[in-house]
Amino acid sequence: MSVDVLLVGSGNMGRGYLMAARRLGLRAALVETPARIEAVRAEFADVVVAHEPLDPVVAEHDEAWVGPAIRLAQRTRPRGVLAFSEPHVQAAALVAESHGLPGPGLPAAQASRNKALQRQLYGAAGIPQPDSQVLARLDELARPSFPLVVKPLSGSGSSGVEQVPDPRAWADAVARRSGGGPYLVEEYVTGAEYSWEALVRGGGVIFSNLTAKTTTGPPAFVELLHVPGAGAADRELRDRADRLGDEVVGALRMRDGMVHLEFRIAPDGRAAVMEAAVRTPGDFLMDVVSRAHGIDLYEACVRLTLGHDPELPSGGGEFRHTASLFLAAEQAGEVVPDGTDRLDTVPGVFRSGLRQDPGTVMGPPESSADRMAFALLDLPTEAALHDAVHVARAAFARRHRGPEAA
Ligand SMILES: Nc1ncnc2c1ncn2[C@@H]1O[C@H](COP(=O)(O)OP(=O)(O)OP(=O)(O)O)[C@@H](O)[C@H]1O
Ligand SMILES: [Mg+2]
Repeated sequence: MSVDVLLVGSGNMGRGYLMAARRLGLRAALVETPARIEAVRAEFADVVVAHEPLDPVVAEHDEAWVGPAIRLAQRTRPRGVLAFSEPHVQAAALVAESHGLPGPGLPAAQASRNKALQRQLYGAAGIPQPDSQVLARLDELARPSFPLVVKPLSGSGSSGVEQVPDPRAWADAVARRSGGGPYLVEEYVTGAEYSWEALVRGGGVIFSNLTAKTTTGPPAFVELLHVPGAGAADRELRDRADRLGDEVVGALRMRDGMVHLEFRIAPDGRAAVMEAAVRTPGDFLMDVVSRAHGIDLYEACVRLTLGHDPELPSGGGEFRHTASLFLAAEQAGEVVPDGTDRLDTVPGVFRSGLRQDPGTVMGPPESSADRMAFALLDLPTEAALHDAVHVARAAFARRHRGPEAA
């Protein structure tokens, strides 16, 4: 049997790839856990014609995906291979390499999974970034200078990312995090945060978008809001982001696919790259960036992996003001059952959901997994988007009962 595209992993946000494959009349093979294979096959039996399971117990480890991906590729001889999220990047890149298929390439895949490796590559390429060092144990740092940031080498969702403001907090972090290394310890850089999502073909950027990002700030930096199309009125900022993106794509020696870059621009104009990844960006960015520009990024990625040119926006189309908004607790409180304050009644919301069950008690988030609800918005103007975000936050606040209301 042969298929068009092999999908390594397909979480909820991977649905877009399957829809695109269906629209393009493609046949797909899927590596996933048995439960996910069953769920995907229930909806996409016409698309997913072959599959290979992996043990769910080890699914968070990159290595676990490699064997099943190689076996499925040998059986189905795909014309393209796509990684879904972080643990899938290496396996997809190995399959692409051994079958001569388009993809980001092994160097980019490897760097995507290791922030310390990225720091070395960016350093060698002269790309601006925070000073950093890798430590096996935090107590190895002789002269910490504050504030600094501690993070795991290959985390995501801000999990384990922590700003340490002073010597007292440092002593606490050293005690609390003993044995959990290696760690990357970085200079804390301030400034507005952005992400840059781009399509790359043959090492050249063919589409890019700049997204403004809001997080909870220190100490945990959990992402709360992403607004694509940033810098529309600031050509200099856009050009800056595109130049930085080009440099990172070059440093990673990335060839084909989607790249997601995160950086800050300090008040003095100094840019600092946080990290890059050659996979589907999270937090519904595929959906909101696609809507903003009138492009289907999922379909574009599928086309790129088949070695075809994706359809790109003509430039003359209408730009939509979109956002992905996440709602989190500001103080400990209980998620209350659905009432009248539903997020899906907020103007412009085209998708929303509760991520914690009613009755769950949640405090301020320490990682993305602690966020309680989300809403995706699409409005004709920036002002309307701004208002809708405000309304959604207020509606949500009424659904999260703090101690004084309980
Ligand atoms: N050196 C730094 N200086 C300032 N802020 C930082 C630094 N490193 C990380 N941060 C903040 O923490 C956030 C998460 O860091 P990073 O992207 O390295 O971790 P992550 O686990 O990959 O997070 P995510 O998956 O949410 O992007 C960044 O977006 C930024 O807000
Ligand atoms: Mg990040």
